[in-house]
Amino acid sequence: MKNKKKILFVASEATPFIATGGLAEVVGSLSKTLVRRGDYDVRVVLPLYADIKPELRSQFTFLGNTTVPVAWRNQYCGFFRCEHDGVTYYFVDNEYYFKRKGLYGHFDDGERFAFFGRSIMELLPMVDFFPEVLHCHDWQAALALIYLKTIYCRTEKYRDIKTVFTIHNIEYQGKYSLDNLQWLFGIDAYYQGLVEYNGCINLMKGAIECCDRFTTVSPTYADEIKNPYFAHGLDAIIRRNEGKLIGILNGIDSDYYNPATDKAVYAVYDEKNLSPKAVCKEQLQRMLNLQVRPNTPIVAMITRLAAHKGLDLVTAVIDKALENDMQFVILGTGEGHYEHFFADLAARHPQQVAAVIAFNPELSRQIYSGADVFLMPSQSEPCGLAQMIASRYGTVALVRETGGLKDSIKPYGADGNGFTFANYNANDMLYVLKQALELYRDKAAWHTLIQKAMTTDFSWNVSAEGYNTLYNELISTN
Ligand code: GLC
Repeated sequence: MKNKKKILFVASEATPFIATGGLAEVVGSLSKTLVRRGDYDVRVVLPLYADIKPELRSQFTFLGNTTVPVAWRNQYCGFFRCEHDGVTYYFVDNEYYFKRKGLYGHFDDGERFAFFGRSIMELLPMVDFFPEVLHCHDWQAALALIYLKTIYCRTEKYRDIKTVFTIHNIEYQGKYSLDNLQWLFGIDAYYQGLVEYNGCINLMKGAIECCDRFTTVSPTYADEIKNPYFAHGLDAIIRRNEGKLIGILNGIDSDYYNPATDKAVYAVYDEKNLSPKAVCKEQLQRMLNLQVRPNTPIVAMITRLAAHKGLDLVTAVIDKALENDMQFVILGTGEGHYEHFFADLAARHPQQVAAVIAFNPELSRQIYSGADVFLMPSQSEPCGLAQMIASRYGTVALVRETGGLKDSIKPYGADGNGFTFANYNANDMLYVLKQALELYRDKAAWHTLIQKAMTTDFSWNVSAEGYNTLYNELISTN
C-alpha cells in the first residue's frame, strides 16, 4: 500500500451503486481501471442516497459519525464504507439530505451538496486518508475542492493535497443567489470573487478557479468550451484558465459492455464470429413488434430526450428517412414533446418504428447488439459513451462531429469506423444516413466496417493513461 498513489474521487454518482448518466459509468470504471494498474489506491465518496439498492447497501459497514457545519446548523454526518472491484467507496449519510426519491432537482440541492462537500473534508481524518490528489467531478462535487482551498488548506495534512476538477457537462454549473455565500455555503466574503460569476454564486466556476488542473471528457470539447456557442456562459473563465485545462477522452467498461459475454443479449458474438448478431436482430424485431426482416437495417437511438442530443434534426427528417428500406428504434425518456413525437411516429409506422419511452439498461444492450446503425447527432456532446458501446457491439455509429463524438468516430473511408457529418443540419444528417443505408447493401464492405468499429479500442486502458500522466505531474510538484 505504502507507495501507491492516493487519489480521492468525489462525485454524485458511480456505478454500480447509483447512476443516472455517463458520469456514473466514468467514475465507476475509471477508478477500477486505475486500481487494476497496481500503483493506485483510488477511493470514491458518494452520498448515501435512499435510491441505492438494499442488496448493495447491505454490504456497507458503518465507520462512525460526526457533525458538519452547514448554514447555521451542525448537521449529523455518518460514514459508511464498502469495497468494490478493489476500489474503496465511502458513503456520506444524512437522511434529511439524501433519504429522498431521485438524486437531483430538489429545492435545496445547493445546501445538500454543500453538506456533501464539507463532509468530505471531515472524512479524511476519520479514515486517515489524505489523498495526494482530490479529484472532483461536476458541480455537485465542486464544494469539496472549494472548501479545501478556502478553509482546510491551512491545516497541515490538507496543505499538500493537489486538486483536479472534471467537467462532464458544462451546462450544469450549480448557480445560486449570492445572498447564500456566507450563511449557507459558509464561504468567507474574502473569497467571494472566486465563486461569483455574473452576479451569482457559480460552483463550477469556483472549482475552475480553485483547482490545480481541470479536465473535460474529450480533447475536442476542451477546445469547444472556449467558445460561447458551447460554454453556457463560462467561456471567458475557461479561456482565462486555459493553461490548467486538458481534454482526456473517456473510455467504456469493456468487461461490462462485451458482446461475447453479455448476459442480456440474445446471442453472444465477437468480431470474428458475427453471425449470432443476426439472432440478436431477429429477436429485437420480434420483441418490438417490428417486421422481421433480416436485410432491412435497423437505425437505433438510445438517448435522453433532450434538445442538445440533436433530436430536432431527427424530428425534421425522420419521415423522409423512413421512405427508405430501414427500421427505426428509439429508447429514452425526457422532454415531453419529444416523447410524444416518437410515440406518435411509432403509431404511424407500427411495423417500421418502435419507440420505448423508458430507461432500461437491459433493453439498451439488446438494442446495441441487434441494431445496425447507431444514430447520435448531438448538437454538443462532451464525450458520449453510447457511440463507443454501440461500436463495441458492432452497430455502426453515425454521429455529428462534436466533442467526444468527433474524437471517437472517424468517417467511413480508409481508417473510418463509422459515419459522421459536420454541420448541425438535418439534411446533412439525412444525406450521410442514406450513404450508410446504401453501404449496408454491400455486405462485404459493411462486414469490414463492423469489424473496424468492434476492434477500435475504447477501453479505459488507453484513456486512463491520460489521467496517470496528469496525476504524476501534480504529485511530482509536491
Ligand atoms: C455527461 C456528458 C457525456 C459524457 C458523460 C461522462 O453525461 O453529457 O457526453 O459522456 O458525462 O463523462
